[in-house]
Amino acid sequence: MIDMDIRAEKPEDVNAIHQVNREAFRRENEAILVDQLRGIASTISFVAAQSEQIVGHLFFSPVTINGQCSSQLLILGLAPVAVLPNYQRQGIGSLLIQQGLEACRQSNCDAVVVLGDRQYYSRFGFMAASTQGLRCEYDVPDEAFMVLELNRAALQDCSGTVQYRSEFKLCE
Ligand SMILES: CC(C)(COP(=O)(O)OP(=O)(O)OC[C@H]1O[C@@H](n2cnc3c(N)ncnc32)[C@H](O)[C@@H]1OP(=O)(O)O)[C@@H](O)C(=O)NCCC(=O)NCCS
Repeated sequence: MIDMDIRAEKPEDVNAIHQVNREAFRRENEAILVDQLRGIASTISFVAAQSEQIVGHLFFSPVTINGQCSSQLLILGLAPVAVLPNYQRQGIGSLLIQQGLEACRQSNCDAVVVLGDRQYYSRFGFMAASTQGLRCEYDVPDEAFMVLELNRAALQDCSGTVQYRSEFKLCE
């Protein structure tokens, strides 16, 4: 892939990130969600840039577990991920996810959850969250809610319902 830069969001990327989310999702909800979550503790925001143009974006924000779990654990939710329609299916989403997960590891994140297509996310090591005793607060098919442990056995003593930040109500 020519000249694709995967890096953390910079202040001057804000408008382009809004645009990428709006075009990829064909609505404004996810773009507004990112604007609302930006700057909250433990969030991670990455962009894919080609010749200075932002063509992809990936965001992580902290989730909580309503059930049993050490409050010391840092669990992040991967959402949203967006690539401009004309740039999709060229591996940009995968690059963002791989490097985003590496940034999560470096931020001492213990695990990442994601709600989405099982086949797509299993490429990155995600597996059904139900196998770890975790379910999603939203009414979604079991296989669509997945988890990836970044710290081995971090979720060993965890079970319960994963709750995203209240801002996510915007995207239900
Ligand atoms: C999902 C998305 C970020 C993937 O980005 P991408 O750069 O196209 O992804 P990659 O090129 O790394 O991977 C493409 C693969 O993902 C799969 N894929 C892409 N979008 C998919 C979707 N919405 N559902 C299921 N699979 C999807 C394709 O099957 C493709 O597989 P292939 O290479 O075997 O054909 C992009 O399609 C997008 O922005 N979609 C609209 C927004 C969205 O639905 N985001 C995810 C929910 S948060």
